[in-house]
Amino acid sequence: MLLDLIKAARSYRRYDASKPLTIETVKGFVDAARLTPSAGNLQRLRYLALTDKSEVLALTKEVKWAGYLADWDGPTDEEAPTAYLLLLSPESTGVSLIDVGIAAETILLAATEQGYGGCMILNFPREELTKRYHFAGKYKIELVISLGVPAEQVELESVKDDEIRYYRDRNGVHHVPKRKIDEVFLTPKDLTE
Ligand SMILES: Cc1cc2nc3c(=O)[nH]c(=O)nc-3n(C[C@H](O)[C@H](O)[C@H](O)COP(=O)(O)O)c2cc1C
Repeated sequence: MLLDLIKAARSYRRYDASKPLTIETVKGFVDAARLTPSAGNLQRLRYLALTDKSEVLALTKEVKWAGYLADWDGPTDEEAPTAYLLLLSPESTGVSLIDVGIAAETILLAATEQGYGGCMILNFPREELTKRYHFAGKYKIELVISLGVPAEQVELESVKDDEIRYYRDRNGVHHVPKRKIDEVFLTPKDLTE
């Protein structure tokens, strides 16, 4: 069921680092993303997969994880993702951010369907990565996605008192509040009241 897949495709930030992802598997996720809509069908996004263990561990220490979890410094080496995907746009043209969103969620859904999981990460060291991977003059990094086999439990719950911050309970379960359908689905009456 599509809804079950969407519910399962949470942001995972702790993984089983002993279960590596191959470039071929990551390429399969991108193969799904390349079929999605894009503005003008321009298909400007490019994807760079990182699976080398030392590169992946280095990046894991550089990105900013879970801003709302003040006491957590991010995954340990044993909990680290086993791959990253960098979503790139041509520096000369840029790309519609809507295209980036469509591609990113498609990648998470494709990964989840195959027993993997990921997290979209906007808080990454842009300058360092641009230098490290020789993107200057060619590509702008639009988004980083961590990938791996999830090793944490994530539960959805309803937003209460407008509190949207995710949190981790004492058993280590990560909780993600979502707004109720009647809060987000407007009717004409909501606009005239
Ligand atoms: C555009 C975008 C940027 C994000 N950047 C980060 C980030 O830098 N670090 C992080 O840990 N999570 C990041 N996230 C994940 C969000 O925190 C996550 O989607 C949100 O908490 C809801 O959880 P869910 O994805 O399980 O529904 C980002 C998500 C999106 C869509």
